[in-house]
Amino acid sequence: MSLARPIAYLAGVGASAPEGRLTNADLERTLDTNDEWIVERTGIRERRIARRDEPLLEYTLRAARQAMERAGVTAEQIDGIIFATVTPDRRLPSAACDLQSALGAKKAWAFDLVAACPGWVYAISAAEGMMAAGLGDTILVVGAEKLSTITDFSDRSTAILFGDGAGAGILRRGAEGSDRGVLATYLGADGDLAELLYIPAGGSAEPLTPEIVQEKRHLMRMAGREVFKAAVLAMSRSTDEALRRAGLPPGSIDLLIPHQANLRIIEATAKHAGIPMEKVMVNLDQYGNTSSASIPLAVAQAEAEGRLKPGMIVMLVAFGAGFTWGSVVIRW
Ligand code: UT7
Repeated sequence: MSLARPIAYLAGVGASAPEGRLTNADLERTLDTNDEWIVERTGIRERRIARRDEPLLEYTLRAARQAMERAGVTAEQIDGIIFATVTPDRRLPSAACDLQSALGAKKAWAFDLVAACPGWVYAISAAEGMMAAGLGDTILVVGAEKLSTITDFSDRSTAILFGDGAGAGILRRGAEGSDRGVLATYLGADGDLAELLYIPAGGSAEPLTPEIVQEKRHLMRMAGREVFKAAVLAMSRSTDEALRRAGLPPGSIDLLIPHQANLRIIEATAKHAGIPMEKVMVNLDQYGNTSSASIPLAVAQAEAEGRLKPGMIVMLVAFGAGFTWGSVVIRW
């Protein structure tokens, strides 16, 4: 069954990241790597890294409050909170419940969503569906990570990539007859490929032990080259599919806001879609890969730079661990 869209639009987006910076020059001091290799192979120049005692909630709150302010929404008006993350401050209760309490969003339902890098794309889709089901008109959609807690800083193939950050959006029910908002969504997953990007232990199957920590099996492992190829393929297909679902012809994207994992993946996705790089939002040089925070951080920056104008067709597209992927087309 399909729904008459648009149902929902992004009324405000906010972003925040820890102050701490880790540059390529910093990494050169501890790893067998160099700035030239990192910039050429990934496009990343620095990342934000939270202090050990700086909880995810701290910078997520700043992002959420900014999104609310820009949307003109108070905590009392929020009907629900979806918090996409793979690095919650604690396992129980959800990060969404901690955020609900910190905001004083008393009437909001709240839950976490685990979909790795496409987390925010999944969360927008979930929020839109819940809105269609009558579960609210104003939903806070968060993508935030403290990836530094699951990164192996002795592994040069992953340590150079990841960073911390938070993004948030207020998804609101649109006015009757408005053509602004989410036009189409597309989501996919392939759990057969889970072990190309995963954390081997520390979950319920193999609870944390000193040995696991010693062997660093509680940290992320990635088969970079395989993930790279799968990312290009899935992001290209996701872009095509969301456009098709929106009934829009190829070439109608005004701004592509892709997951910020690797500049070469972004360039390949843009090339496949026939989009010149001037119409692509890139900020991974400043943040690296922040998983579910990556797209909202980029959306907030695009807005701050005046790159988002009413009526524009905006494509969000992401790929990550699972594997998972997804895309959202929005008329801004
Ligand atoms: O969020 C979604 C999930 N993540 C991604 O989308 C990431 C996808 N993958 C990638 O971005 C890339 O595969 C990487 C950036 C991780 C690696 O780039 P690559 O061009 O695929 O390099 P590679 O793994 O094929 O390695 C090429 C060489 C190897 O040396 P040899 O075997 O050719 O001698 C590596 O050992 O580069 C070496 N290498 C490095 N050299 C300097 C790997 N990492 C580094 C490093 N500095 N940090």
